[in-house]
Amino acid sequence: MRVLITGARGQLGQCLRDCTPDNLEVIFTDSKTLDITNLATVNAMVEGFQPHVIVNTAAYTNVNQAENESALAFKVNAVGVANLAQAAQKIGCRLIHLSTDYVFDGKANQPYTHLDAPNPSNTYGQSKLAGETLALSLCDNVTIIRTSWVFSQYSNNFIPTVINKLLSEQTVQITENTTGTPTNAYELAKFILQQIQSPLSQKIIHYSGNVVITRLQLAQMIAEELSQYTMPSSPYQVQLTEATSRDWVRPNYSALASIQSVTEQEARRQLQQQIHSIIQTIINEVN
Ligand SMILES: NC(=O)c1ccc[n+]([C@@H]2O[C@H](COP(=O)([O-])OP(=O)(O)OC[C@H]3O[C@@H](n4cnc5c(N)ncnc54)[C@H](OP(=O)(O)O)[C@@H]3O)[C@@H](O)[C@H]2O)c1
Repeated sequence: MRVLITGARGQLGQCLRDCTPDNLEVIFTDSKTLDITNLATVNAMVEGFQPHVIVNTAAYTNVNQAENESALAFKVNAVGVANLAQAAQKIGCRLIHLSTDYVFDGKANQPYTHLDAPNPSNTYGQSKLAGETLALSLCDNVTIIRTSWVFSQYSNNFIPTVINKLLSEQTVQITENTTGTPTNAYELAKFILQQIQSPLSQKIIHYSGNVVITRLQLAQMIAEELSQYTMPSSPYQVQLTEATSRDWVRPNYSALASIQSVTEQEARRQLQQQIHSIIQTIINEVN
């Protein structure tokens, strides 16, 4: 089976590269080798390689900056997705497109299901929702996978950022105490690979971790794991501070009800283990 993966230099793209089995013939592309906003380039790549499945992990993902660069956010997250959807439709291939919990407005108090109505509260979420809508309207064979708070050792996502801050300054300040469901990028990559080979019929799937947690609680969990690992002479400090207005473009609550559920206890154990493994990677890199 031939698979075209976009966004290969991103954190999910790198995890997909790490997990891809040998029985798939995969081309990994990044913004240099395949700019998804360029329709001619997309068509040439898709017509040349004739993939059975395209996995689009490429996206404009800077949530705060999107407020000042909305044209670029829409170009990548909406026009780019439309280009891939049209190219997929032309050759009859399937498009698996990654989307986000930020398509929701954050007013819920229980995890969002795929049946809940999106209503994004920021430019990033609006551009991602536009991408979903275009993908569904332009291509018959689409799966949208929405995920939330993706983390890995790659890139400066929340978990490595907090670990590095605690290691260097012993303290970290949390400015936006939003609630979400942190998702391990490797588990997400494995789920996508499973969807390539044995797809569910559902067009919109929520896949995330199963621990509903605030940023403050997550940072405290990281500090606890880090303490066990490094045994600091004085305890790590996690403080909640006043947010600057710039930070409040994020929905307050964006937990997803994941298609794969485990017990709360097991989910917490897995999250602790995943944090532990990122701590190990970071400390090994430093030493
Ligand atoms: N990270 C999260 O917490 C999170 C949460 C919910 C949903 N998601 C979704 O999950 C997906 C993967 O996210 P991620 O964390 O892996 O993001 P990421 O690390 O920011 O990677 C995104 C990649 O997209 C590429 N890209 C940007 N513009 C492009 C263009 N015009 N053409 C081709 N590639 C382009 C970038 O490529 P270059 O590096 O080559 O410039 C970047 O490597 C995205 O759809 C995102 O919206 C992420």
